[in-house]
Amino acid sequence: MSDNKDSNPKPKAAANQQPAQAAVLEPKRTSVGRETSRIDGPLKVTGKAVYTSDHNFPGMLYAVPVGATISNGKVTKLETAEAEKMPGVHAIYHRGNIGELFRVAPDSTYTAYSDEPRPPLADDTIRYYGQYVAVAVADTFEQAKAAADAVKVTYQEEKPNVSPKLTADTEVTVESHRGDPQKAFDSASIKLDETYTTPSETHNVIELHATVAVFDGTKFTMYETTQGVVNHKNVLVQVLGVAPENLQVISKFLGSGFGSKITPWSHCALAGAAARNLKRPVKLVISRKMSFQTVGHRPRTQQRVRLSAQPDGKLTSLQHDYLSHVSLLDDYKENCGECTSYLYSTPNLKVTSALSRRNVGTPTSMRGPGAVPGLFATESAMDELSIKLKMDPVKLRIINEPAIDEGLNLPFASRHLIGCYKQGADLFGWDQRDPRIGSMKKNGLTLGWGTAGASWIAERFPAEVSVLLRNDGTVRVASATQDIGTGTYTVFAQVVGDKLGIPIEKVEVVLGDSSLPAGPMSGGSMGIASIIPAVSKAIERAVDTLLTAATKTPNSKFSGTKKAELTVTNGQVHKKDQLSKDGVPFERILKEANLNNISGKGTSPGTFSGKKQTSVHSYGVHFVEVTWQEEIARLRVSRVVTVIDAGKIMNPKTGRNQIEGAIVMGLGMALFEGTDYEPTKGAPINSSLADYLVAVNADMPKMDVHFLEVPNTELNEYGARGIGEIGLAGVAAAIANAVHHATGIRVRNLPIRIEDLLGETT
Ligand code: MOS
Repeated sequence: MSDNKDSNPKPKAAANQQPAQAAVLEPKRTSVGRETSRIDGPLKVTGKAVYTSDHNFPGMLYAVPVGATISNGKVTKLETAEAEKMPGVHAIYHRGNIGELFRVAPDSTYTAYSDEPRPPLADDTIRYYGQYVAVAVADTFEQAKAAADAVKVTYQEEKPNVSPKLTADTEVTVESHRGDPQKAFDSASIKLDETYTTPSETHNVIELHATVAVFDGTKFTMYETTQGVVNHKNVLVQVLGVAPENLQVISKFLGSGFGSKITPWSHCALAGAAARNLKRPVKLVISRKMSFQTVGHRPRTQQRVRLSAQPDGKLTSLQHDYLSHVSLLDDYKENCGECTSYLYSTPNLKVTSALSRRNVGTPTSMRGPGAVPGLFATESAMDELSIKLKMDPVKLRIINEPAIDEGLNLPFASRHLIGCYKQGADLFGWDQRDPRIGSMKKNGLTLGWGTAGASWIAERFPAEVSVLLRNDGTVRVASATQDIGTGTYTVFAQVVGDKLGIPIEKVEVVLGDSSLPAGPMSGGSMGIASIIPAVSKAIERAVDTLLTAATKTPNSKFSGTKKAELTVTNGQVHKKDQLSKDGVPFERILKEANLNNISGKGTSPGTFSGKKQTSVHSYGVHFVEVTWQEEIARLRVSRVVTVIDAGKIMNPKTGRNQIEGAIVMGLGMALFEGTDYEPTKGAPINSSLADYLVAVNADMPKMDVHFLEVPNTELNEYGARGIGEIGLAGVAAAIANAVHHATGIRVRNLPIRIEDLLGETT
């Protein structure tokens, strides 16, 4: 068992080197690790936070796209004359008159990345429902909408393929392979061979995707809804064909993204082109319906899982063969096998994948892409195996806990999955579980108890950060990253506050502007882990300059002192052998030196390139209770206990909030969510918040979230990894497992519907 085994190099005590001066130990001011409310909270609750579509400019026009009403075929005629004559209309743009829009070059580094590299209106072929064929621009939104509706499109229509039954249309890729799983499977007496499916899911961000494009004849200023201002800029520079210095992307606040705002979508190009052509600011906000069609979705998956085990529970083989659907032109793959190769110990394993082409818009990342649907399959299968073995599902996990990452053949940097299971089981009261189906009752309801594990990547994007120490005692920190609502502004302030020992009220955080030093995407739960080392370095540089200034300013307290004898604690410059209260506030050093500010820049590399020495991931466990009322077929999720192993939690308040939100989303995934494609036209048919069901307040279970805080400094000095996505991984499986325990019905196709529970027990 590898529990509590951290391979971090510990700081070595300098045995032979005597430090010049012994450091004086004193309490340092910090808000890192403390419950800290969002610093942008007051702006949001008072309506002062300016979101993309809140931007208005003199002379601004409104654009409304026209989407195809077929999903396979060709545009044979586009009639715009009537629409052009309508009141307030400035233009109806289409393939013939929009001007040049370019393709996005292939990119695997997420610096100029697009899931849909084809520019809008590039040809007359329709490959998915809602694909833009024109865009109407008018003085008001209502006029633009009326004109868009008046554009007449004639199609040559073919039968679309939106079939939910997936078959491989691309070559099958072997993602991980060890031993001979088929042989082990064939010779095993205890085995399982089941197929699990997860539906297409739509992100349903509350803030609709929007662009406000401003063009001054040379330069574009694009107000965007994006999880990556730098990537967004680098993509639009290509699509619009302008020099990088002539396009700026601004995204100060976001009403969530869940992955749908990681890459720019074709409406951004339509707004940019319209602004360029008309030399007027253009606002384009897509409709809720369009957000089911043109801004990505989590693709449908179909996953065959084969497991075999010895009677003692030891896994002898694991095979995970999965398919995900994809659009006709793009290659987005739902990476369902992400966790499969390292989650359990088994000598024989194979993971394969392939894509299934469909007439749908390109799929994209959705919270926990890959791992989330993948773990639904593998963690459901583990539960099924535990039943075959007549073994407690937690015990089955403990028996199969690997000592190393057997997929990469590397030690784990920090893995405490068993610790999560133990703590979660304790908090939940798992030892009271009676494994017999439907045997547990409470207040006339049948209880079902289920569990599942979770894992998620832990990586870093490259990041660049600048800081300014100012002579009024405030500090400005800036980076071209953004806060999708997770609390990024706040954690920046906490890190700066910690490094300098100043209250976070003194820190101004500037994000959401591509003209700032290039910061990370808010994706892959990597934002905070990525920025910490860069903030640290920026502050180190600024402090170095500050200390030089302190020693060189005549009449300053430290004039003539050696720089090496000085440090900064609690916002005070002081001698290392003295307490900070005997020092001088940093701002006074600046004032004495007649400096307005001192700057520092810090960069840190990403972790994607180069050979890995360890396997770095986050882990977690969910314990779920459902209640089942058989007489009226009512299923509720009543209680969830979650324990997350994601290293140091920088802000437990926003952190817990992330996990709770993810649990609720997992409940939606398990019981409600799914985009249905109507087979004759290929339209996502339940394309509204009335018809696409998500979990609401009334569905909330009692949630109890715990962090197993074991810092591991592989990614940064605090030992923090990401927490945006891991909370969703495993939830749907834990619920399905609990449902089986209550009802005896194993649902392998999400979402679990009441109809599923009226059938035969399985
Ligand atoms: Mo996340 S799907 O990387 O926004």
